Amino acid sequence: MLDRQVVHELQVIANFARMCQVVAGVEGWLRPTEGYALARMASVAHVPGEVVEIGSFKGLSSCWLAMGLMMGKVSGKAFAIDHFRGSPEHQPGQKFVDKDIAASGSTRAIFDATLSSKGLTGHVEAIPMASVEAAEEWRRRGARPIRLVFIDGDHSYEASAQDFALWSEFVTPGGYVAFHDVNAWEGVTRFVGELVAAKGVFKPMFAVDSIRVFQRSMA
Ligand SMILES: C[S@@+](CC[C@H](N)C(=O)[O-])C[C@H]1O[C@@H](n2cnc3c(N)ncnc32)[C@H](O)[C@@H]1O
Repeated sequence: MLDRQVVHELQVIANFARMCQVVAGVEGWLRPTEGYALARMASVAHVPGEVVEIGSFKGLSSCWLAMGLMMGKVSGKAFAIDHFRGSPEHQPGQKFVDKDIAASGSTRAIFDATLSSKGLTGHVEAIPMASVEAAEEWRRRGARPIRLVFIDGDHSYEASAQDFALWSEFVTPGGYVAFHDVNAWEGVTRFVGELVAAKGVFKPMFAVDSIRVFQRSMA
């Protein structure tokens, strides 16, 4: 006899597999476990606020965030901030040169096509700007509180620090800041290490593969 916990576990696994199928073929570096972690965080509006990501590329993490909003029947959209010109490593001649950036200078068309083909366009709003301009725009639009910000833009130390400084101020008490590619890129890894050591208002909460999640203190 299978008890309720086992049945629940099977349903969670089936749901995870279905979500993996939705994003199959979307280019990006986010692992399925990381995507599911983002989706679960987006799915629970435990405190008021918006869901924002810095660095959307071709839409992989945006899809997971959108599926999370749908999973939790949470109203509102995920805000996808990217200038769509690629990070330094995507440029011609660099380590992870991207064919679409080399060809057209932008991943915006693919980002739009990804969300449209997955039926998720209605759950994501692109803000096609550099992080620093988008933060000014966010302030102009009313500086709405944020309950989850996923930082996956330029992974240099300086850019990671800047993205955190720009966006963490909007994060509501109890809200989350999640970083991608910790232990994969030196810059973001060093910044996240410093954030842990600082023992400030953002407390380390959990890790899933290369994602590190911090929660803003309630006080
Ligand atoms: C690693 S990719 C993001 C991957 C994406 N989260 C996914 O899951 O597929 C980094 C993205 O950050 C964007 N980016 C880099 N620097 C940025 C900046 N200063 N402002 C906005 N976007 C930036 C790049 O255009 C690129 O699309």
